Amino acid sequence: MNDAVQIAIKPRAQPTPAAARAALLEDPGFGKVFTDHMITARWTAAEGWHDVQLRERAPLSLDPAAAVLHYAQEVFEGMKAYRLADGGVGLFRPAENAARFARSAARMAMPPVPEDLFLRAIEALVRIDKDWIPSGEGSLYLRPFMFATEAFLGVRPAAEYTFCVIASAVGAYFKGGAKPVTVWVSDDYSRAANGGTGAAKCGGNYAASLLAQAQAAEHGCDQVVFLDSAEHRWVEELGGMNIFFVLDNGVLVTPPLGGTILPGITRDCIISLAHDLGLTVEERPYAFEQWQADAASGRVREAFACGTAAVVASIGEVRHRGGAFALGNGSDGAVTRKLRDRLVAIQRGAGADEHAWLHHLA
Ligand SMILES: Cc1ncc(COP(=O)(O)O)c(C=O)c1O
Repeated sequence: MNDAVQIAIKPRAQPTPAAARAALLEDPGFGKVFTDHMITARWTAAEGWHDVQLRERAPLSLDPAAAVLHYAQEVFEGMKAYRLADGGVGLFRPAENAARFARSAARMAMPPVPEDLFLRAIEALVRIDKDWIPSGEGSLYLRPFMFATEAFLGVRPAAEYTFCVIASAVGAYFKGGAKPVTVWVSDDYSRAANGGTGAAKCGGNYAASLLAQAQAAEHGCDQVVFLDSAEHRWVEELGGMNIFFVLDNGVLVTPPLGGTILPGITRDCIISLAHDLGLTVEERPYAFEQWQADAASGRVREAFACGTAAVVASIGEVRHRGGAFALGNGSDGAVTRKLRDRLVAIQRGAGADEHAWLHHLA
């Protein structure tokens, strides 16, 4: 049984000294400061998942013909561990990440990592590297990923895979901190098409989004907003976040999960928290021209993006080939702030966790 696979614990002989670690944690940025350890596991058709190790973080060695390097058979997750108000450590809805990881793997014709193994691996890594969790607003960003290692040239699912988990101490995702972000609406590139891999968290989706993201940066924007691929009309999501619109009647609108957008865990939380606040949430298509008209008429009061990395980020300005428009008055809207505050309080163990989202690390 895969679920019974044991994790061999091989701690790093000389972990980073406390003073050096403290210096790194002062201003970690995002995705640059890594912890001392990682998890690795191997899969073969004959043995299933085996050789699971918690060991010193180190470069991996790959055959140049490893299938991932040629056919991009790779999936990943993004999740966080938080230092809690009571001094403990919490993971936020990790079972959701485990389930999505398995769905992404299935879409890419890869063997799923059993959810129990996924969760034990995450917990073991967080436990051994818990001193890397920044205090204050930071957190430990966990990156589980899996890729095809079989050495062969030919287009078919590989017969060997590696599962790996690394961890990075992070601060704010956007350089400006909690300031509203500016977004670029791409009218030439799409992120995903019907029948494609948009709902999977696979590396290829992000490779395909980079040119549009670079265009966004050229236009002075933090993130790109993708429209649907068929009509270039319907708002889908950002390069790495889902999107919500707050209308003047208090209704929240968010694009529906139809296979082309990632089913965000933060998106799911926002929908629940909005319901808790008595707000109506409509999961329905929303056209970019409607967004422009609603911003001009004042019907759309706020818009925000949400995801694990940035949590909830207000959208303050929208730029596109035809011009630009502003939303709000340069700070968070009231509904955005309320939802973010509630979510952050739960993540940090400082608010009533009515949905039992926080997983306390024993
Ligand atoms: C394309 C995309 N959409 C949405 C999200 C938000 O998902 P989650 O809230 O689960 O982090 C992410 C981040 O994982 C993403 O990469």
